[in-house]
Formats: sequence, structure tokens, C-alpha cells
Amino acid sequence: MERKLLFKNIDVPGIATYDVYRANGGYASAEKALKTMTPEAVVEEVKKSGLRGRGGAGFPTGMKWSFLARPEGVPRYLVCNADESEPGTFKDRYLMEHIPHLLIEGMLTSSYALGAKTSYIYVRGEFFYIIRILEKAIAEAYKNGWLGKNIQGTGFDHDIYVHPGAGAYICGEETALLESLEGKRGNPRIKPPFPAVKGLYDCPTVVNNVETIAAVVPIVNDGGEEYCKIGIGKSTGTKLISASGHIKKPGVYEIELGVPVEEFIYSDHFCGGMLTDRKLKAVVAGGSSVPILPADLILKTTNGEPRLMTYESLADGGFATGTMLGSGGFIVMDTSASVVYNLYTFTRFYHHESCGQCSPCREGTAWMEKILHKILDGHGTMTDIDLLWDIQRKIEGNTICPLGDAAAWPVASAIRHFRPEFEEFISKQAKQEVNHNNQHQPLAVTS
Ligand SMILES: Cc1cc2nc3c(=O)[nH]c(=O)nc-3n(C[C@H](O)[C@H](O)[C@H](O)COP(=O)(O)O)c2cc1C
Repeated sequence: MERKLLFKNIDVPGIATYDVYRANGGYASAEKALKTMTPEAVVEEVKKSGLRGRGGAGFPTGMKWSFLARPEGVPRYLVCNADESEPGTFKDRYLMEHIPHLLIEGMLTSSYALGAKTSYIYVRGEFFYIIRILEKAIAEAYKNGWLGKNIQGTGFDHDIYVHPGAGAYICGEETALLESLEGKRGNPRIKPPFPAVKGLYDCPTVVNNVETIAAVVPIVNDGGEEYCKIGIGKSTGTKLISASGHIKKPGVYEIELGVPVEEFIYSDHFCGGMLTDRKLKAVVAGGSSVPILPADLILKTTNGEPRLMTYESLADGGFATGTMLGSGGFIVMDTSASVVYNLYTFTRFYHHESCGQCSPCREGTAWMEKILHKILDGHGTMTDIDLLWDIQRKIEGNTICPLGDAAAWPVASAIRHFRPEFEEFISKQAKQEVNHNNQHQPLAVTS
């Protein structure tokens, strides 16, 4: 079922303003933390909650926070990753647009726990209208004593700055983001050292996703144990899912982790079923970077159990038959969609967005795009499929940051599960109506 923690008040008229947000229980978690809890107690609640990072990798947030180095006299920073450029993912944008004070409250409460007097929201540059919303909300928070010096008389000082990116997907990778925030070219750094030890301006830094930081608010309000009761196993709490593609009701849904995939696609309180009479063909469950799965595998695990919207269930079977929850960008394709064409658009994206530091990614993404273009153009050969397979294998695991893996996995999974479609395309020398110069082609290329 739908379970609203972050979006509990999202439909309240005027919730983007301070007064309405506060009147609906806003800033209660910040008040509770700053006035009645030690920073360590807040970290403890987040650990108890089992919250996992919502930016894609699902790393336990409490554990990440406890890794933060705390040398004397050195500032610590919290950086909110609001770059959100993963194709298929649009949940952070939605949250910031509709309920910006939730993020600001989460930043304040998290910063108190981490001992950070300054935090940054690194926002995707194209979200210019959201930057204005955030800045307005931050100004309201200052005016009402939730930011600045001696917040609500507690002695805690905190400032938040909004920093627009310049339109590069790679700047969502946390170390590239930090480089960019420092005013440099957004190239990922070699890890270790991790940002928790050497992050922004070489100081200990936590980088968290928008949704992760927002989730700290209900965790502190209700306690980590209560949050942990929501969800299944190690997938605790709720998750925002950006649903798109051939479904009746695309949008952003807050789900309790553990909802069956089938229910998510077909029930009226979520996606509302397939858009037309065409059947489900495939799903990309966690944003463009995760493996695509055909209908039978996305609905059921290898032992025939219903597949659930959890980190574990989606990954069941490894990459042979499973995928990842990732950032929750759930793209549904019906039988009109061309997996080969879809793969081409994804690969073209990764080639364009590769920072170029690592040759396997820089060269490999370029070659994969060229080969897919050749296949789509009707000049492919059967050996091109093996060549694609070979190239993606040489990228995976051989780059500084996971953009290389993100480019390789869609290729590997498309070939693994849809090889006959590549073969048919090549053997028919299909001349589909594809305009390679148009980035905004629909998913479907056949009728
Ligand atoms: C190429 C690339 C792009 C990424 N983009 C984002 C992004 O837009 N937002 C985000 O939160 N994490 C993104 N990540 C993941 C971040 O590096 C990092 O793991 C995340 O911000 C940590 O936050 P979390 O622990 O709250 O999930 C990206 C990673 C890669 C490799």
C-alpha cells in the first residue's frame, strides 16, 4: 500500500510556505533534536531506523554518518546531493518543489547530528525554478530562527547554501560533486580517501541524497524503531518511486518498501496498469543504470516468488536474473518498445556524460554508441552483438567511479535478456524510423 511519511502533508495547500509547514507539525524534529537530544543520540536513531541511502547505492546512512572523522578544530560539512540527473528519476525534484521545508528541516537535524555548521544543497542546474523555491524557503527559515546563529536559543549555529550545478550527470557522483562545489571541473576523485575523511575542502563531509535527508525528519519525530517497523527486512521505511513509461498513471509515489512489483504496476493506487491493451514487455526498475528485466523476471524471482520492491528482492538472482532498486526510477515498457533503440538512447547519454578521465569509459561508451547506431541504421552484423558484450565487460569495474558500470549494465542486461531482438533487428536489416538527431524520441518505435 501507499504509505506516506515524507509526502504526508504534500497535498496541504500552501505546504511549500513556512507558516503552513510549521502549522502542520513542521520543524518538530529539528526542535526535538536540538532541544532534547545529543548529536550522538540522533545518529543512534538513524542507525536504528535501518535507513539506507536513497541516491542509488543503498548504503546504510547511520553507518555512513558514524564514519565521519571528527578531528578537533576542523569544520565538517553536510552536502545534499540534489543533482538528480539519472534518466527515469524525478523524485527529488518533486519533493523540493512541493515541500522544500522538509529538506531544510532534514538538513538542519542531520547537520546537528554531524556537528556541521555549514551545509550545501548541490542542485542540478536545469532545476532553476527549484533553486528559487529553495532560496525562498531558506530565507523563511532564517527569518523564523531555524537557520543562522543560536538557532531557537539552543546555541547551535547553522547556514545552508544552495549551489547550482551546470548540467553534468557526472556531478551527481559524490566526489565529482565535491570537486564542482569547490569550483573545479567535476571529475570523480579516487577513493579512498572517502569524503567522510577528506571531502569538501579536504574536510570531513557527508554527502546524502535529498530523500535520505528528508527521511531523517520522520525518523527523529517517531524514533528509529518505529521507522524500522515499516518495510521488510533490511529494506526499511518508505521509498519514493518515479514511475514512467507505458502506464496509466505516471508520477512520483511514496511506497512502503516491500510492495510486490505486480501490485505497483497494476493496482489503481499506484501506476494503474498498462497504458493500452499492450502487454508488459520489460522494466528498468531503478533508473537508467540498472539492468533491464523482461516481464517474467521483474514480476517473479527465480524461485517463482512474487518480486517485491525492496533492495534484496529486486537483486535476487544477481545480474543473471535480477536488477537493483537504485534511485527508484521505474520505467515500464510495453510490447511496442524497442529494447535496442532504448539501449541506444541510454548509451548515447552515458557517452555524452562520461567525464573522460578513464579510458575504458571514455572510449568504451563511444564505441558502444557507434555500434548500436550501426545496428539501428540497418548495417549491423551478428558479431556486433558479441563486440558490444566484450566492450561492456571491459568497462565494468575498470573505472574510477561507477559511471562506467552504469553504462555497462544496461548493455549487458539487454543482450542477456533480449538477444533475439538484436538478432532479429540485424537479420531483417530493419530500417526503423529513427531520427538519430532527435533526443526526444518516444520509447516506442514500432506500432
Ligand atoms: C554517475 C553518477 C551519478 C550520480 N547521481 C546522483 C544523483 O543525482 N543524486 C544522488 O543522490 N546520488 C547520485 N549518485 C550517487 C552518489 O555518488 C552518492 O552515492 C549519493 O549521493 C549518496 O547519498 P545516499 O547515501 O543518501 O544515497 C550518482 C553516482 C554516480 C556514479
